[in-house]
Amino acid sequence: MCGIIGYTGKGNAAKIMLDALELLEYRGYDSAGIALLGGNGMRILKSAGRVGDLRKRCKGQDTGGHCGIGHTRWATHGGVCDQNAHPHRFGRVTLIHNGIIENYKELTEKYHLAGKLRSQTDTEVAAAVVDHFYTGDPYSAIRRTVLKLKGTFAFAVLFDDQPDKIFAVRNVSPIVAAITPDGAILSSDVAAIVPFTPDYFVLPEFHVAALSPAGIELFDLSGDREEIVWQKADWDVGQSGKGGYPFYMEKEIMEQPKAVQETILPRIRDGRPDFSEEGIPDRVLAECKRICVIACGTAMHAGLVGKSLIQAMIGIHVDVVMASEFMYNDPVVDGETLVIAISQSGETIDTLEALKFARACGSPSISIVNVRGASIARVSEYVIYTNAGPEIAVASTKAYTTQLAVLYLLTARMAAARGLWSEKTLEGFMQELKRVPDVLKQVLQTKEEIHRLAGAILHARDVFMIGRGLDYSILLEGSLKLKEVSYIHSEAYASGELKHGTIALITEDTPVIAVVTQEKLKSKELSNIREVQSRGARVLLLIKEGEALEEGEGLSCVYRLPRMEDPFMVMPASVVLQLIAYYVSSDKGLDVDKPRNLAKVVTVE
Ligand code: F6R
Repeated sequence: MCGIIGYTGKGNAAKIMLDALELLEYRGYDSAGIALLGGNGMRILKSAGRVGDLRKRCKGQDTGGHCGIGHTRWATHGGVCDQNAHPHRFGRVTLIHNGIIENYKELTEKYHLAGKLRSQTDTEVAAAVVDHFYTGDPYSAIRRTVLKLKGTFAFAVLFDDQPDKIFAVRNVSPIVAAITPDGAILSSDVAAIVPFTPDYFVLPEFHVAALSPAGIELFDLSGDREEIVWQKADWDVGQSGKGGYPFYMEKEIMEQPKAVQETILPRIRDGRPDFSEEGIPDRVLAECKRICVIACGTAMHAGLVGKSLIQAMIGIHVDVVMASEFMYNDPVVDGETLVIAISQSGETIDTLEALKFARACGSPSISIVNVRGASIARVSEYVIYTNAGPEIAVASTKAYTTQLAVLYLLTARMAAARGLWSEKTLEGFMQELKRVPDVLKQVLQTKEEIHRLAGAILHARDVFMIGRGLDYSILLEGSLKLKEVSYIHSEAYASGELKHGTIALITEDTPVIAVVTQEKLKSKELSNIREVQSRGARVLLLIKEGEALEEGEGLSCVYRLPRMEDPFMVMPASVVLQLIAYYVSSDKGLDVDKPRNLAKVVTVE
């Protein structure tokens, strides 16, 4: 969490940084600030609020200069206020930070900082420690500081007497850097770099990058120079704008047919699923005795769909574990457990740590990641990239459906590798998978109808969502989406579980969204719907086109989903749920792309 930017070169540093902070704002948006180092010494401008507020704060101020660092914050230590906004300055050192310094209290004591700090942040303590060790050699000060720190960090540091230079170091939290046509830039992620160049590198952990207008040098912690390993970003700048939509979330929902197509098609060869580009040997898919999916939030919900598919079609046991709980439940993974880590950002620290643990236990691992070169992709044995392109809205949409697309491909490849399916079954499955982009287009063409349906829950305080099996898995995601962007309390329940307590909350007019897409569960699901209706619930039903509903089923709102084979129905149904959440949020006038308290990349535990 938190967005970091640093620029040194011939350009206007303040302008470059403010523009970049806007692109990085999805990483955290409770305060923002910049520090400029130049002829007039160090100038720091920062304020609680959005980057837009910082821009206002900069108006009429001296913002000239060619070297600076900037930050957009997601508060961890210390509340949201001007003093706690980054950059933090102590003595001759000014720095920005993404991560958590766990031993900041011990360091405060050890270096007698009590009474000298102006903020409540762990970051200011780190600035003070760097200043303590600084005797004119930035590398030595950084090295000695880093050896004292416990926790995660990505720092960009300015020293008063090192004009035009930015120093960066990291542990876990990401930093990427690049040479621009007129200088050098660093950032928390490539989103802020691609407007300048597609060529960038990931700063290795516990290494120091020194940026100057002449370029970038890389050193290990003992001061030895190292070669930079360059990579190419495959996101073009055009993909990063809103493309005429009022919010990124709508744009990203609308991009799903293309995103799913680009995720699926390169992995189909001669009609069969193919992971040879990723170098995944069939043995990894054929020999594992069980699968453990680790992920958080939306990515974890994608894993639940994967579990249903794989258990039903391959017949092996799949656990889906919240990555944040993985380490605390004495995980049992071994060489026979295939670990699948799912993450849009590839930086979620809980998923990353769980994956590292599983690898240390000897588990083969595949990660499903959207952001190229991200930490989870690098730690994993094999990586399958979802080709969703940049996902900027905090609420994940196209990343989710592309994660599902990869899970379908993996299921099919696993079945083929194990010799479980006939050619005909495999062909039928792949044909249906290839239909998904068109079916999603069909759903998106009905977005105005979905907008009207969303009106039914616009003023609701609580919304319940019910379904069974695969329908339940996608409702967990639909409910999360509604909560996070509309602030309406919502719960997804396996329909059969309602009677065991929650049905007590269903009263006259309680809105209930029910999804019924699985033939084998239909009659049970419809009975459960009748149960809530007879307690007064107002039901919005998502059901396949052409499914008969009995007279008197009394459903005031029905949305007909385009027909697919049952295992694929989660795709169109998920898009409807995303659009419902989106329209409720935008009709409430909320900041859809940046819901309160959230951040897109969760790099703190
Ligand atoms: C919700 C959402 C989050 C993320 C979760 C994991 O819309 O986006 O729940 O899915 O924070 O993030 P990644 O996928 O980056 O690991």
